[in-house]
Amino acid sequence: MRAIGLNRILTVLLLALVLFSAILVRPVFADEADTLRLGAKVFGANCAACHLNGNNVVMANKNLKQTALKEYGMDSQQAIVAQVTNGKNAMPAFKGRLNDEEIQAVATYVLAQAERDWKPQ
Ligand code: HEC
Repeated sequence: MRAIGLNRILTVLLLALVLFSAILVRPVFADEADTLRLGAKVFGANCAACHLNGNNVVMANKNLKQTALKEYGMDSQQAIVAQVTNGKNAMPAFKGRLNDEEIQAVATYVLAQAERDWKPQ
């Protein structure tokens, strides 16, 4: 009798654990995909005019490829978010035009694309 009771408790605990981890782990992956999708959309609408395929039509050396981002200290979420928010020289500021979520997402997208050398998705 006791053994059955214990088994039942263990089964319930195990089920709870499985359900709980499914609930906890899933959104993490979903969030990342959502962020990249939003980032790609924001990039297409706001950045591609000057930065199509990670290039820079205004200042060719300041492109969005890994080497340039590293060279100019722009290879971090924080640095890109700051520049997109406030602009720099010929690059316009997006504060007020894009919200925080959109700016974070586009920065994540730029870093992810730089890592894969701007190969098409
Ligand atoms: C009107 C053209 C223009 C648009 C639109 C534009 N940029 Fe830029 N971007 C520039 C220019 C010019 C620079 C170089 C600024 C400087 O350092 O003087 C630059 C630099 C950058 C850099 C740093 C690159 C490096 O190698 O130092 C990043 C990152 C960047 N832009 C991201 C974005 C993102 C993300 C968007 C869209 C939200 C965007 N830009 C929209 C013109 C533009």
